[in-house]
Amino acid sequence: MGIFITLEGIDGSGKTTALKLLCSDLAKDGYRVLQTKEPTETLLGKFIRNTVLGTGGDASFMKSMDIKTSALAALFLFSADRTAHVDEIIAKLDSFDIIICDRFIDSTYAYQTANSDDAEGTRDLKEFILTINEFILNRRSFNIARTYLLDLEPKVALSRLSGRVHGFDGFDGRSPDFFNAVREGYLYLSVRHKDRIKIIDASGPSENIVMEILKDLKGLVDEKIASTNE
Ligand code: TYD
Repeated sequence: MGIFITLEGIDGSGKTTALKLLCSDLAKDGYRVLQTKEPTETLLGKFIRNTVLGTGGDASFMKSMDIKTSALAALFLFSADRTAHVDEIIAKLDSFDIIICDRFIDSTYAYQTANSDDAEGTRDLKEFILTINEFILNRRSFNIARTYLLDLEPKVALSRLSGRVHGFDGFDGRSPDFFNAVREGYLYLSVRHKDRIKIIDASGPSENIVMEILKDLKGLVDEKIASTNE
């Protein structure tokens, strides 16, 4: 029985590069690793990429909605994708030591609440998302062993992003303020779930990020392997 961990961070935090390095280092050390992500590669995940995020597709449907409506619609779509994803992950946990997911419940909290200037409405939405997230996990007694939050100043992340051609046009309307709000959402969660979420300084090179994750992660996995073998 393996452990499930997640990687989170704002766009441009270096998550994708770190994840690649992390998985290859773990595999070299003999761990059985599976990498997965959200939105998923399923039909629904692809629909979300195309329609909510607009990756090579058409995001005009979501953009035609009132901003609060589209946040709620996105919440339900991401949650539906996740509900099925959890079942899929559970079915595979016995065959791996570690399953690593690129974005999970914390992305929904951080992103789907970042685009509003209605403080009261956003507070309600935040509570609702926390409840849905817990429900999705609890219905299958599913546990996230650790979340690594790659934390970076939005200014720095945005300057990294401006140098690369990004696949989706989701940045329309995503200002530095938006990313500040996403980061704040993440940091709030890191206090609320301080035993699960570990903040990793993402301002340095990927090698350092991965080294810091590995220091913590190997302990967790080895503990789990030992307890399974008892
Ligand atoms: P993706 O192209 O995978 O970007 P990245 O490589 O940075 O993960 O797009 C994922 C985008 O989807 C990212 O901007 C965050 C957003 N997202 C949400 O808004 N809510 C969610 O629940 C999830 C999982 C992702």
